[in-house]
Amino acid sequence: MGYEIYVRSFADSDGDGIGDLAGITSRLDYLSWLGVDALWLTPFYPSPGHDHGYDVSDYRAVAPHHGSLQDFDTLVSAAHQRGLRVIVDIVPNHTSIKHRWFASARRDPDGPERHRYLWADPGPGGRPPNNWRSHFGGPAWTLDEQSGQYWCHLFLPEQPDLNWRNPVVREDFESILHFWIDRGVDGFRVDVAHGLFKDTELRDNPQIAPLADGMHPFEVFDAFEHRYDMYQTETTDIYRRWNHICAPRQVMLLGEVDAPWPDRMSHYVAPGVLDQGFLLWAARAGWSPEALLKMVRVMHEGLPQGVSWVLSNHDRPRPASRFGGGEVGAQRALAVTTLFMAVGGTPFLYQGEELGLTDGTLRHGTYDPVPVETAGAIHGRDGCRTPMPWDTSPHNGFSTSDPWIDSEPRPPQQTVAGQRADPDAPIHRYRSLLALRRKHPDMWRAPLEWIETSDPLVAALRRGSIALVANLSDHRTHVSLGSPGWQPVFANRQGSRLDSATSEAISVPAETTVVLTRGS
Ligand code: GLC
Ligand code: MG
Repeated sequence: MGYEIYVRSFADSDGDGIGDLAGITSRLDYLSWLGVDALWLTPFYPSPGHDHGYDVSDYRAVAPHHGSLQDFDTLVSAAHQRGLRVIVDIVPNHTSIKHRWFASARRDPDGPERHRYLWADPGPGGRPPNNWRSHFGGPAWTLDEQSGQYWCHLFLPEQPDLNWRNPVVREDFESILHFWIDRGVDGFRVDVAHGLFKDTELRDNPQIAPLADGMHPFEVFDAFEHRYDMYQTETTDIYRRWNHICAPRQVMLLGEVDAPWPDRMSHYVAPGVLDQGFLLWAARAGWSPEALLKMVRVMHEGLPQGVSWVLSNHDRPRPASRFGGGEVGAQRALAVTTLFMAVGGTPFLYQGEELGLTDGTLRHGTYDPVPVETAGAIHGRDGCRTPMPWDTSPHNGFSTSDPWIDSEPRPPQQTVAGQRADPDAPIHRYRSLLALRRKHPDMWRAPLEWIETSDPLVAALRRGSIALVANLSDHRTHVSLGSPGWQPVFANRQGSRLDSATSEAISVPAETTVVLTRGS
């Protein structure tokens, strides 16, 4: 089971209001108590911070406000002592505009460094070279006045895209992998893994939906089929090379692969390529159980071990908020997470998910460059990035001074300390669930058989000594497990009833996932 740490907001050890590596080290005992196996750390490299660390200006160092390389080494060894693996984020699609590679590429349009990035002459009338869009709004091209050429950026102008057809770029990243492997990392989370290569002729993407004024940047982006700016087949050759470096050293490659189609995902996630892919679909969706259960079945059929299911990350509103808020949202999130434990590769929790948190409330200002629309209101990705609430001391124990992001303090029942003291709190449910997955490897390893149900809002399955029924409908349901002798061992809420005579069928309340075991 993985756990995503948004480094800026997890724990601040030196009182500057920004989370740091030493802060994470000080909280490792908590993570072992919770029962996770692997930590994914978001970028902690030097960065001007236009995209909060996803604009890297040096891939082989630690930003001073997050600590030092020595702090990193301390964190890795302390994690390893506790049996926790450490996965770092690698950002290969783009660098920061402040990276020295970009500075030299820009400085000398005729020099060899120029072709580390993607440059193109203006289109007719001085317009951008083609119709590609930035995820974050506007064209994917910015004019460099000095040379009269545009540079390409699928994200902010401050995140210029690298030219992966240049072998120097490839060599640099291979040496970056070695650098972190030599420091003991156990895996890489590959940012925008479906990006990297672009069409050599820079052809226009086909438009598949009309554009309208006032559309959100993500909607504009989705109005195009990304045939030429992403998903190029050459990208997987890079991961094959990375796999040669990583596999012999037991280092895992986990891609952020935005591909909710098994045939496409399986280009990237396959033996000898990436080990697993984060499927972002479920982290984006609102409460839509029918679509979710369908997606789970389709993806599992195509890639039984390859999908790392996540309901949450640092880019989207928290699931408890998306699924109806409060207690209802939190119960629904746990019902889905329970299902995720049994249907793919390594699932990940995002910090605070184990508390059933809804989004934090910002007091003033916005910090994220990307406006995201939630429930009619436009705000950024800030709501899910507010500090981890540890206790009821000032700033919820995150820092001794004002956090970098100004948000309302959380009440005691939303803190780690408050929940640890309350046996009915979500944290204990998550902890039991994680312990269950550890105790019963059948849950993710044994052959999976679906039990057909007549309701598209109910999924049921058996895996060896484990059975699971996810009733995501709004009414009680009755499912026959096909054989006797089952015992419920976990449910996100009380109220499941087993047929006492045979223990062959179970009645499960609304929005409840129950796990059962047999003969062990
Ligand atoms: C990924 C990250 C996101 C970032 C983007 C650009 O989607 O999760 O936070 O903005 O890549 O690097
Ligand atoms: Mg700090």
